[in-house]
Amino acid sequence: MPAAPRLDLYPAFSTLRDQALALRGATLANLFAGQPGREDAFSRSGAGLGLDFSRQLLDPPALAALLQLANEADLPAHIQALLRGDSVNNTEARPALHSLLRAATAPAGLEDKFAQVEATRLRMRDIAALINSGTHKGFNGDAITDVVNIGIGGSDLGPRLVTEALRPYQGGIACHYVANVDPADLQDTLLELDPETTLFVVCSKSFRTEETLTNSLFARDWMRAAGATDADLARHFLAITTNIPAATEFGIAEENCLPIWDWVGGRYSVWSAIGLSCAISVGWDNFADFLAGAAAMDRHFAEAPLADNLPVLLSLLEIWNRNLLGAGNHVVLPYDQCLAHLPDYLQQLTMESNGKRVGADGGALGYATGPVLWGSAGTIGQHSFHQLLHQGTELCPADFVLPFTTHTGMSEQHRRLVANCLAQSRAMMVGRSEPAATQSLLARGYSAEDAAALAPHLVIPGNKPHNVITMDALTPATLGALLALYEHRTYCSGVLWGINPFDQWGVELGKEIGVQILGLLEDPDVAGDMDPATARLIAEWRSAQDKSA
Ligand code: F6P
Repeated sequence: MPAAPRLDLYPAFSTLRDQALALRGATLANLFAGQPGREDAFSRSGAGLGLDFSRQLLDPPALAALLQLANEADLPAHIQALLRGDSVNNTEARPALHSLLRAATAPAGLEDKFAQVEATRLRMRDIAALINSGTHKGFNGDAITDVVNIGIGGSDLGPRLVTEALRPYQGGIACHYVANVDPADLQDTLLELDPETTLFVVCSKSFRTEETLTNSLFARDWMRAAGATDADLARHFLAITTNIPAATEFGIAEENCLPIWDWVGGRYSVWSAIGLSCAISVGWDNFADFLAGAAAMDRHFAEAPLADNLPVLLSLLEIWNRNLLGAGNHVVLPYDQCLAHLPDYLQQLTMESNGKRVGADGGALGYATGPVLWGSAGTIGQHSFHQLLHQGTELCPADFVLPFTTHTGMSEQHRRLVANCLAQSRAMMVGRSEPAATQSLLARGYSAEDAAALAPHLVIPGNKPHNVITMDALTPATLGALLALYEHRTYCSGVLWGINPFDQWGVELGKEIGVQILGLLEDPDVAGDMDPATARLIAEWRSAQDKSA
């Protein structure tokens, strides 16, 4: 494979090292004091989103060096290569054309693929309409009331997030998500459902994924146990896959299969028929707005200069925090309950994409790549891990995500949420000095001696770097823009690290070993070639089975 670039070999990277050294000990207070108007100078907007990165630990020269890095890495050329369908996934020799899934018109050279996308969109629109209008009936003649999406990874996290995030737009059909091979996941979901009015959407790009196939078999048995004949099952199962032969072999008729394509990565596929459950949940028009919001971000990504380009800036800030400040993790804090699943979704997007130890050329990298991503909805995390954010020893750069308004109609209560978000951001920024801590203790009636003893525990260093991503409201369009923003940020970081963000070879080994171990669990007579630690747990599992028999 041709040699891939290396982050630390760009000339701008040495400049960045110098900048990082020069900024050692800098405080956000100093940075604001030394740069009047910083809050405006370090704020951008695009596709309905605002990005305020003024609370990052960098100054204009460091930002200039980051932009220089983007130029040296020729990010504009890489952006065009992605969007026009070049083979950016080099280890699997294919493009990553998730942007085509939300395009309104065919980009030059992609007319054939776009025609397939459009035809599939029409089918999705029709299915959503048939189900929402009650025209599509279950096997006893009653209208469908519930949809169960069976899938995992990209065939679950995206649709689950979108359905959850757009629940204010939900119509009459309830959508449920089953992913885990743990039977409790499916069992708990089915407990509240009626087989006669339930539709299963089996989402699996490969149609080979153990969890999804196992749950789908169980779901089929559940339908049969309720009296559905094989012919009836056609009304209750749809498949979304690239592997239509495997889906038909499973028993889903070809006319009930919707395609996706190998040029769509699983974790980038919510815009395709993998998003069918969401389209059913919120109706086609809202789903189309979701696609349009992402397309607006695609245009911004393609057209905005690097210095104003939201995904590029987010990526450069990720590189700054990861490779220059040494942060090993990144926390996402959505201040909107509807976005509670955003960290889960972003974990797959960023960690499956950029959790790589070799370059796109297979050569070792001498620097850190994708950080650990985690987070939870505000204000939940405030009463849990924010303690560590404020006073722990781990540097946790953060993204606050804040819609300015609520769909609930409870604007008074929402004001409290906004106040909490801004308060957490400000506390992370300014912290609290020891004299201020002492003062506050004295004001609370502590003696001077007790105040002095307690004050160090109240000190908050502040200077915790973070972004604030805002939108007027969480709508289908702004949600689409937000997810596309993170997709493109992930791509840019992959390019800068010199890795391929579109493969995931690291997940294969565990799957292979899982098959071997299942063989051992199923048949005690099989001579397993297992390490002693695994063999010991298998033996313990066997004895637990015997005890519970
Ligand atoms: O195991 C990882 C993975 O391959 C993801 O990349 C993918 O989103 C998920 O499994 C599900 O795959 P499929 O859609 O083929 O069932």
